[in-house]
Amino acid sequence: MEFQAKWIRPQTGLGDVCPVFRKQWKTNAERPAAKAELIITAVGVYEARLNGARVGDFVLAPGWTSYEKRLQYQTYDITGMLQEENCLEVTVGKGWARSPMPGFADNEEKKQRLAQPCGLFAEIRLTDAEGNETVMGTDASWQYGESPIRFSEIYDGEHYDARVCPETWSDAVEYERSCENLIPQEGEKIREMERVQAKRIFVTPAGETVVDFGQEVTGYVEFTVDAKAGQAVKLLHGEVLDREGNFYRDNYRDAKAELQYICRDGVQTWHPSLTFFGFRYVKLEEFPGEARPEQFTAIAVYSEMKQTGRLRCGVPELNQLFSNIFWGQKGNFLDVPTDCPQRDERLGWTGDAEVFVKTASYNFDVETFFNKWLHDLAADQFASGAVGHVVPDYLQNQTPSAAWGDAAAICPWQIYQTYGSRKVLEDQFESMKKWVGYITHATTTPNLWTGGEHYGDWLGLDAPSGSYKGSSREDLIASAFYALSTQLVIKAGQVLGEDVTAYERLYQDIVKAFRAAYPEYRTQTEYTVAVWFGLAENPQQSADELAAMVKRDGCQLKTGFVGTPFLLHVLSGYGYTDLAYTLLLRKEYPSWLYPVIKGATTIWEHWDGIMEDGGFWSVDMNSFNHYAYGSVADWVYEEAAGIRPLEPGFSRVQVAPKPDRRLGWLEASIETRNGLVRSRWEYQEDGVRYEIETEMPAVIVIDGVSHQLSAGTYTFWGEA
Ligand code: BGC
Repeated sequence: MEFQAKWIRPQTGLGDVCPVFRKQWKTNAERPAAKAELIITAVGVYEARLNGARVGDFVLAPGWTSYEKRLQYQTYDITGMLQEENCLEVTVGKGWARSPMPGFADNEEKKQRLAQPCGLFAEIRLTDAEGNETVMGTDASWQYGESPIRFSEIYDGEHYDARVCPETWSDAVEYERSCENLIPQEGEKIREMERVQAKRIFVTPAGETVVDFGQEVTGYVEFTVDAKAGQAVKLLHGEVLDREGNFYRDNYRDAKAELQYICRDGVQTWHPSLTFFGFRYVKLEEFPGEARPEQFTAIAVYSEMKQTGRLRCGVPELNQLFSNIFWGQKGNFLDVPTDCPQRDERLGWTGDAEVFVKTASYNFDVETFFNKWLHDLAADQFASGAVGHVVPDYLQNQTPSAAWGDAAAICPWQIYQTYGSRKVLEDQFESMKKWVGYITHATTTPNLWTGGEHYGDWLGLDAPSGSYKGSSREDLIASAFYALSTQLVIKAGQVLGEDVTAYERLYQDIVKAFRAAYPEYRTQTEYTVAVWFGLAENPQQSADELAAMVKRDGCQLKTGFVGTPFLLHVLSGYGYTDLAYTLLLRKEYPSWLYPVIKGATTIWEHWDGIMEDGGFWSVDMNSFNHYAYGSVADWVYEEAAGIRPLEPGFSRVQVAPKPDRRLGWLEASIETRNGLVRSRWEYQEDGVRYEIETEMPAVIVIDGVSHQLSAGTYTFWGEA
């Protein structure tokens, strides 16, 4: 698109205060606009108001991308908002673009990011009935003043002074900044999606007044208060209470996550607009008058994605787990798939996204969301083919980790599988190949991936004491992912009609080398990846050994990020469905249900974020909203309920449920690109009753017998 606007900024920095830019104009009475549009983006995050009313409902626009290469602009239809005299006001906060992310690392890129001025780029385009266009682009005729937002930043929160009304206006300055990286909005917009009313307000043993929303959400608090001008509100955010029942937020590390608000006179309702928090509890450090729950609402803010998956069963704790998985996704799908929404991190960790992408794509329609993020992944990929640990790449670490960088191949392939559009493969194929090429050149052993620095089976429970990494061999994991990514390049290439013979040869060589180097497996995760990635020479025997190992371990999982998503799949895929359910239903630590028993409302980073004695696993690495282990949901859809695509996009589906009496009943459904598929089973006195609804041709497998069926709703009886 051709632009006339120039980048503008305030003449001098306003310190922490967020500037508000404005443009005033009169409507041409002879040639009023038949159509009016606002095209806009910022270095930071913006909120625009025209004649006092909010323009659009995009929160934290322009969203988060690899800004230097790809900065989204938004286009709003403002025709209906015009008056005779018009005033557009745009407040710009630091957002992700000028933030000190991540809290734990310093690098050159971060210094440059922080040093950038607060920039605005906008065009008001007015078109009259004859099609004549008038463009008012940002330039030195626009003005700026100090907004009531005295401070706003992603980690530290927001300070607002309701008494402030910008009075002094100065001319903005044009400055040199490229427009070549500007792209139209690609992702889903971020919106206020849900409102959660406060459940209770209580006083902790330490005497703190705390609001409990009963649900961990990502977003912000809206409160109503009757106050005198100058009175203060100060809120701190927390996810959990400590052993004594006191407010706790040490796990936010350096993120202050604070709201400060100075009141004007009277009854007023407010929420921040240029930041967000991950929280269930809010501590009222200062609040005028006695606080009542009806004065507080948590507003959940996330990418506008449609819920497509549903899971329900006869075990209340499992239903809570399902709810936690959905909330974990909502809380971490705020434009970028992040590890967590609260501490001084909130980054697009590639490994976490890769682990969860299948579940994510069944739960919600995330095609647009992932397509946009994958474009950033490719844009940030190094010339060597190395993929960053996080995307957008705020770490700039050129040494990638296996299972993290492999997001480059795994995510596009999964998005293709779930939604059936080749576009994602067309867009990402070069990036996928570059990633495999990186490994081929970086490894110290041909056809394996040895050397390098990896996260291994991150947070595996068999970690040697003091280490975050499980004891699975890093080279084995890395080589297994090398095989997987190569295989996905082959599959993607075949879909696209590319010549993949070189990759086919490479794949065969990797499998051969893997089998020679790793004839036996030592941990649950090693077995799991070897079998699941098709590398084990005798998969049934390896699965038998894995099952025996899990039993020897007391029917406990010991897997971390790498093994956990596939563990139950391997067990149920090789005759150990019963054991898979035992792991799923286990309530003692370590298990998926242990956090549920401990009151979790989202998925925890650690199996024992809160330990049995009520203490914390650690202070510095203990998120209570980390979606990765929620990937177990794809096992529930695909194995327990038995729904899986036979063709990309579910144009044909298989429904092969594997019921278990301990659940009583289970119902799962997915609204796919080709219609709804729903699977329900229920134990009754004389057997299991199945009800399968499918809007696409299906292969339904009940008790090992296949039925080829067209769209319809079918009932079967099976053995109990
Ligand atoms: C994040 C993880 C991430 C990991 C890399 C952590 O700090 O929270 O989820 O994948 O670092 O090992």
